[in-house]
Amino acid sequence: MAGGDPVWKKLREEATAAAGHEPVLSELIHMSILDCDSLESSLAFRISRKLGHHAVAEPYLHDLFEEILKANTYIGEQVRKDIVAIDQRDPASNGFLSPVLYFKGFQALTAYRIGHELWNQGRREMALYLQSIISQIFAVDIHPAARIGSGILFDHATSIVIGETAVVEDHVSILHEVTLGGTGKERGDRHPKVRHGVLIGAGAKILGNVEIGQYARIGAGSVVLNDVPAHVTVAGVPAKVVGKVEGDPAACMDHNI
Ligand SMILES: CC(C)(COP(=O)(O)OP(=O)(O)OC[C@H]1O[C@@H](n2cnc3c(N)ncnc32)[C@H](O)[C@@H]1OP(=O)(O)O)[C@@H](O)C(=O)NCCC(=O)NCCS
Repeated sequence: MAGGDPVWKKLREEATAAAGHEPVLSELIHMSILDCDSLESSLAFRISRKLGHHAVAEPYLHDLFEEILKANTYIGEQVRKDIVAIDQRDPASNGFLSPVLYFKGFQALTAYRIGHELWNQGRREMALYLQSIISQIFAVDIHPAARIGSGILFDHATSIVIGETAVVEDHVSILHEVTLGGTGKERGDRHPKVRHGVLIGAGAKILGNVEIGQYARIGAGSVVLNDVPAHVTVAGVPAKVVGKVEGDPAACMDHNI
């Protein structure tokens, strides 16, 4: 199977090398990756170990996560694109091993993906329980009904908040302390819609059912209250257009105006 799954194959190669270099972490690397039969099993182990709690113990979460990941192969496709995106875009990443073992943005997003599937299956209490524990452990609070595409980078990730009716399309990069929230004045469909290729800088607050056009950049610390056209940079409080975007900001992680 590893031969037909290049992400899993590369991850195992990196894990083998790392286990040899760092004996203290060898047991963790073996249990998390080398003793597992697939990326799905590996993620079920690693993330259930982080999220296991006295209310719902790790073995139950492990079996649930593994069952959901193996039965819903679209999640595995999304997760593999996330891993590749992190490696390509995050200057601090040095391969596939770090996201799987350590990066809480990736782990939180993967756990959200499981919760989203549970939500869609009608297991809403379990999905909401997972949201609460993901938020507690990773400081990333995503409503399980939110819709998030693939090839997503949550860089640093602390304090990312994504509301119930938010949409994040494929190939988007989001830094820490970003809120995709409501204004507090609307009910129903009240959260942002973030299109393909967008880069959202640290601390940006995007509020309301506004559309962030494809390949737009949102400056750090901005408060965005209106639609943002495609291929522009906005910044400030409230955010205003400050420049045009050439190319692919989510991929480049280029923060220059
Ligand atoms: C402040 C807020 C409550 C709106 O209040 P409001 O009195 O209805 O304000 P309006 O939307 O009519 O905007 C009035 C002006 O304030 C500006 N404004 C609104 N919210 C702003 C904010 N957070 N920061 C800076 N300026 C803001 C608007 O741009 C507008 O400016 P203008 O008159 O020059 O066009 C809302 O925008 C807000 O910030 N809510 C907080 C929601 C939140 O924290 N959500 C997270 C959920 S997870």
